Amino acid sequence: MESTHSTSQPASGQTPPIILAQDLGKTYRSGKLEVPALRKVSFSVAPGEFVSIVGPSGSGKSTLFYILGGLTSATSGSILIDGVDFASLTDAERTKMRRSRIGFVFQRFNLLPTLSAMGNIEIAHDIANLGAPHKAELDRPLLKHLTQLLGIEGRLHHRPNELSGGEQQRVAIARALINRPAIILADEPTGNLDTKNSDAVLHMLRQSSRELNQTVLMITHNPEAARIADRILHMRDGELTHIEDGKG
Ligand SMILES: Nc1ncnc2c1ncn2[C@@H]1O[C@H](COP(=O)(O)OP(=O)(O)OP(=O)(O)O)[C@@H](O)[C@H]1O
Ligand SMILES: [Mg+2]
Repeated sequence: MESTHSTSQPASGQTPPIILAQDLGKTYRSGKLEVPALRKVSFSVAPGEFVSIVGPSGSGKSTLFYILGGLTSATSGSILIDGVDFASLTDAERTKMRRSRIGFVFQRFNLLPTLSAMGNIEIAHDIANLGAPHKAELDRPLLKHLTQLLGIEGRLHHRPNELSGGEQQRVAIARALINRPAIILADEPTGNLDTKNSDAVLHMLRQSSRELNQTVLMITHNPEAARIADRILHMRDGELTHIEDGKG
């Protein structure tokens, strides 16, 4: 593992990083107003690593996720996923990479209101398979495993507006994990959950990283939850101020 002082390149001889962010900057512009949301953020993440991201509201955490996931572009700096520079891809290529490699848990869930919980999970599978020559079957055993662990197996035929906030959040987590993405980006995945469900989600993410070698980046406001990670990135005013070791 990297030392807490290193922020970018891993030492030679280690596996190449799955995520390499270099001097990432993002300035939002609305009319004449400029909001600098990220400034010169550099770090790397090894495959299978579990990294927490903490920092005050407005410090740029979600912005960083949108850039890592190719949902918005950085204004400066570069981001390499598996050695591929997002900026060098066409929109179509970027979309394909995102669908096949990255699972998102959004801060505001983003469930489709007209579909049931089950429909929301299934569509993630369908979308990931769009354009693929051979459509992979939905992994039913994994679906059962996820929905049982998340305690939503009895709620799968309800629409989001018939579910509690915590239930919607757990559906969003199942949706992010159903395709076994190489990278899981989870923005406050335990924000609406009670202790029991929060523990279940954290355990699931920890297992995904440790046993399935999935790389997990999790934004959280809960210091206790953050410590479950291998490393904790601290953000403030758009900057990565320091990196701390977690309990791992
Ligand atoms: N689309 C946008 N247009 C203009 N400014 C934006 C936009 N999105 C975010 N910002 C601003 O960028 C800064 C960083 O926002 P961001 O959502 O990344 O913060 P965050 O760390 O995720 O906060 P929270 O913990 O509240 O979710 C904030 O000052 C925010 O107001
Ligand atoms: Mg946010």
